Amino acid sequence: MPDHAVPSPVSARPAARPLTGRIAVPGDKSISHRALMFGALAVGETAITGLLEGEDVLRTAAAMRLLGAEVERLGEGRWRVAGRGIGGLTEPEDVLDMGNSGTAARLICGLLAGHPIFAVMTGDASLRRRPMKRVTEPLAATGAVFRGREGGRLPLAIEGARDPLPLDYVLPVASAQVKSACLLAGLCAPGTTRVVEREATRDHSENMLRHFGATVRVAAEGAGRVIELDGQPELVAAPVAVPGDPSSAAFFAVAALLVPGSRLVIENVGLNPLRTGLFDTLREMGATLTIENPRTEGGEPVGDLVAEGSALRGVEVPAERAPSMIDEYPVLAVAAACARGQSRFRGLAELRVKESDRLLGTAEMLEAAGVRCAVEGDDLVVEGCGGQPPGGGTVRTRMDHRLAMSGLVLGLASRDGMRVDDGAFIATSFPGFTSLMNGAAGAGSIG
Ligand code: S3P
Repeated sequence: MPDHAVPSPVSARPAARPLTGRIAVPGDKSISHRALMFGALAVGETAITGLLEGEDVLRTAAAMRLLGAEVERLGEGRWRVAGRGIGGLTEPEDVLDMGNSGTAARLICGLLAGHPIFAVMTGDASLRRRPMKRVTEPLAATGAVFRGREGGRLPLAIEGARDPLPLDYVLPVASAQVKSACLLAGLCAPGTTRVVEREATRDHSENMLRHFGATVRVAAEGAGRVIELDGQPELVAAPVAVPGDPSSAAFFAVAALLVPGSRLVIENVGLNPLRTGLFDTLREMGATLTIENPRTEGGEPVGDLVAEGSALRGVEVPAERAPSMIDEYPVLAVAAACARGQSRFRGLAELRVKESDRLLGTAEMLEAAGVRCAVEGDDLVVEGCGGQPPGGGTVRTRMDHRLAMSGLVLGLASRDGMRVDDGAFIATSFPGFTSLMNGAAGAGSIG
């Protein structure tokens, strides 16, 4: 895996023609991580299709191998995992290096908490800056011990619990990663693990646990949910068909909406309602964004997303919607920059602890394109240009794949194009982004 030591600048020219045709984006990152992890904990062989082969997920695959599971690539997106059974993971011989991936790091902390083994975990400079206490504090109640740097940051030394206790935890932040870490630890503990979230977050862990045979009860409570998992189930291997990632489809959907005359079909996109806040918001902005061929695959709703060039207007996005579109604000900000009128996105504190300070990074990206915007408390306010923004600037990637891809979409939609200082991080979640965009928007659009 590249160490990203050498930056690799990339540019987007203003789109020379509308985006047309049919494309498919790579597999969902959240579901891909979980398929490998639950496969490693199941008894039997899990066959995965459509796995995202981005660097983040490959880190999870490598970690599962180091923990004793058999993980084999059979072909493009086709993987086989021979699991060890709950409690069956073994001590890794080497440091678990989770690269740029917060999801891998936090979920694996949960998985390790319930195993009586010692492990050391690290990551790249971005991940080593990110808060880990949000998982290590609740997980310590299982009996696991975590020793990290100041602020609980990576590298971490982890000693899993010999007799893990079940957790009963109210999430202080809306985070599917924290919820999932608690549930993974709960698999190894006797009795019921209970997690309460005040706002519903993506439920791929709950869905996949059920798919592998665990008993998970979910009850609505206000805007949130109470999730209960019966501990020490026998997880039985089950096939997983990973749908296309809606967070990756977002870049193509927004690009097609912003380039007049476009009509782009993005096939087989995951449409879990806890992930589709961006699509709802874009429709509120006046986007022609429709779903064809809706169906359910592997317990998750999927469909073909059709995006057509649309004149957008500004929008106000309430804080409650943030969990269902938390990764999509940078590209939504690009849409808002091209819309008519002001947009305000409320309650974005969590963006400050993503792969970068994404709130600051998004604002700087817009400013580099000559778009007026402001961070007001935890809100982002964008003054739309009512058409093409000037462009002509350079986006600082900040080791953040989503800022890089958003900057390139901004370039396509702008008058003078945009540069991105390091496109290499795109490979963490979206290998093949550039060639797919050049196929949809015309050769040489990005390079
Ligand atoms: C993810 C949850 C989100 C999201 C991340 C993937 C997951 O993080 O930003 O890209 O797979 O559970 P939080 O749950 O911490 O908000």
